[in-house]
Amino acid sequence: QIKACLFDLDGVVVDTAKYHFIAWKELANELGFDFTEADNERLKGVSRVRSLEILLEIGGIELDEERKEQLAAQKNENYVSYIRKMKPDEILPGVEDFLNQLRKNGILIALGSASKNAPLILKQIGLTHMFDAIIDGNSVSKAKPDPEVFLKGAEALNVKPTDCVVFEDAQAGIEAARNAGMHVIGIGHPDNLKNADFVMPGFEDMNIDKLNFN
Ligand code: BG6
Ligand code: MG
Repeated sequence: QIKACLFDLDGVVVDTAKYHFIAWKELANELGFDFTEADNERLKGVSRVRSLEILLEIGGIELDEERKEQLAAQKNENYVSYIRKMKPDEILPGVEDFLNQLRKNGILIALGSASKNAPLILKQIGLTHMFDAIIDGNSVSKAKPDPEVFLKGAEALNVKPTDCVVFEDAQAGIEAARNAGMHVIGIGHPDNLKNADFVMPGFEDMNIDKLNFN
């Protein structure tokens, strides 16, 4: 019996990948190389610092830690300037209905995101109040596929991991959910998401009857 749903944020509740892309691309261009949408795929679900390392690898650039910190901060400032303009109409189709259904049925809701900007995004889209617990990049020390973010979510809700289901759009997130001993539903295409209980393109056809795992 599922007692809680844990949601990744970026790529599940909202499509922020497009803003990450613009901000990383501007940084790459400034450093003198190009950064494509295909490159951006590699950054989904990946932490800010690790994303920068991948970007620098693509550009063939090596920098010291101090410079990397500066660049990560610069990218984040740019990214935040975009998410500050986000509005509730950017919530992905079907998400809000599904959250309402969960609440009505007494199923708890938590956020499990790698992003340090998660609280700002939730505020911008007006969804903060829907979450019984918010675990984000500010409260975890180990990145997905480590299960920390989801285990902390289950603990905050006082629910056993086996009674939780995670919604994730990144392979590292699916693995994090599995490592936590939870059920997991992939959001996206099955070709890119292995080891989920099932994969669906989005929340438009989702309803709580699909939360029956045996
Ligand atoms: C994840 C995104 O949710 O958060 C990644 O999928 C991002 O692309 C990561 O790098 C960290 O986000 P932030 O907002 O703390 O830089
Ligand atoms: Mg994601």
